[in-house]
Formats: sequence, structure tokens, C-alpha cells
Amino acid sequence: MKLTHDSIERNVGLLIILTVLTVIWGGLVEIVPLFFQNATTQPVAGLKPYDPVRLAGRDIYIREGCYNCHSQMIRPFRAETERYGHYSVAGEFVYDHPFQWGSKRTGPDLQRVGGRYSDDWHRAHLNNPRDVVPESNMPAYAFLGKTPVNASTIGAKMSALRMVGVPYTDAEIAEAAKQLEGKTELDVLVAYLQGLGIELKGAK
Ligand code: HEC
Repeated sequence: MKLTHDSIERNVGLLIILTVLTVIWGGLVEIVPLFFQNATTQPVAGLKPYDPVRLAGRDIYIREGCYNCHSQMIRPFRAETERYGHYSVAGEFVYDHPFQWGSKRTGPDLQRVGGRYSDDWHRAHLNNPRDVVPESNMPAYAFLGKTPVNASTIGAKMSALRMVGVPYTDAEIAEAAKQLEGKTELDVLVAYLQGLGIELKGAK
């Protein structure tokens, strides 16, 4: 049988096999090079792995589903960069497992929110958003300030992250729980927010 357009379209089995092969090939060509490009595998200058406090804060962010209303991915469009700052680049997320890009923006993108407000602003805002932004429809998270952060799992989390390539040392892992002592879930969440996107903050 000759492989003509006509014969392929009339032979459903062959059409399926060739379609699957085409999709696989297209996927490989798009995805595989990303594993070997410095721009996608190397951290941007100044990026450090999350310290235990920010890592614990990141877990609160995930647990509370903040990503359901907030993205962390600024697209390279003028309307976005004028509002939020430098667009996001892959090298900012090499220590995020998994990244928190999100896809829904009920609230603003948070990728460059680090340093935009004071810690006190964040505390007031998370306690009751309406106190600082009267028209806000973000939920209040008043309980975070009353809940001590769970320090018992932080070492295990860091060990797990090390397995997927985050360069934590044994000493850092051993010291981790101590750094969370006396902290509330609000403290660590604010620390996480204040560190977001600061590496490319002033970049043009
Ligand atoms: C139901 C949707 C919703 C959820 C869930 C939500 N937010 Fe928001 N958030 C908003 C909206 C809307 C705004 C804009 C109004 C305001 O500033 O309160 C906002 C604003 C913010 C801002 C200020 C951003 C800026 O650039 O001005 C921060 C920081 C923030 N949210 C953090 C969080 C965190 C952390 C969580 C999870 C604990 C969270 N949000 C959960 C809707 C949400």
C-alpha cells in the first residue's frame, strides 16, 4: 500500500498510529531541549533555596489554596510588566517543587509582591483584607496569627526536596525546626510573600 493522504485517511488504524507518532515527535521536540538549556535549569542570579521559614510559609500558601485566586507568573506583555514588574523567567522557579504559577487571577499576580508592602501591611491584610483594601473580596485568614507553625515536618520536607535537586546541607536540615520555634503560621506566610520575586525586582 502506498502511503498517500488518501490511503491514510481511509485506514482508521493507520491514521491513529501516525497521529500518535506525530504528537509524540512534536512533544519531544518541544519538551526535551528544555532539560538542557541553562535558561530553564539554572537559577537566576541571587536565587537561593527557600530557608525553613519561607518554606513553611509556602506550605501555608498551598494549604490555604491562595493559588486559586492568585497567579505567580507575569507574562511578557506590556500591560503586565507595567503593572507588576519584570516578567517571570524559568530560572526563578528552579527550587519550586511544584511551582505556584496558578492560572486564575481573582486577585493580582503575586510574583513580584515581595517588598511592595511592609510586614505590618501583610499582617493587617491577611487578618482582614477589608481593613486595608475596603473593596476587597479576599477571605480573611485571622486564624493564621493564632496558630503556631508545625515545625515537626520541616526537616523531612527539606530532605525530600534535596532528593529532587534543592541543595540543602545536612546542617541546614538539622537546624530547620529550631528556626520555626515561636513562629505563627502568619509569620512564616508573610516571610514567604516578602521573598517573592525579589531577584528580578528592579530588572528591566
Ligand atoms: C477568593 C479569592 C482570594 C483568595 C482565596 C486569596 N486572595 Fe489574596 N487577594 C484577592 C483579591 C481580590 C485581592 C485584591 C484586593 C486586596 O488587596 O485585598 C487580593 C490581594 C492580595 C494581596 C495584595 C496584592 C497586591 O499586589 O496588592 C496579597 C499579598 C494576597 N492577596 C495574598 C493572599 C494570600 C497569601 C492568600 C492565601 C492565604 C490569598 N491572598 C487568598 C483574592 C483572594
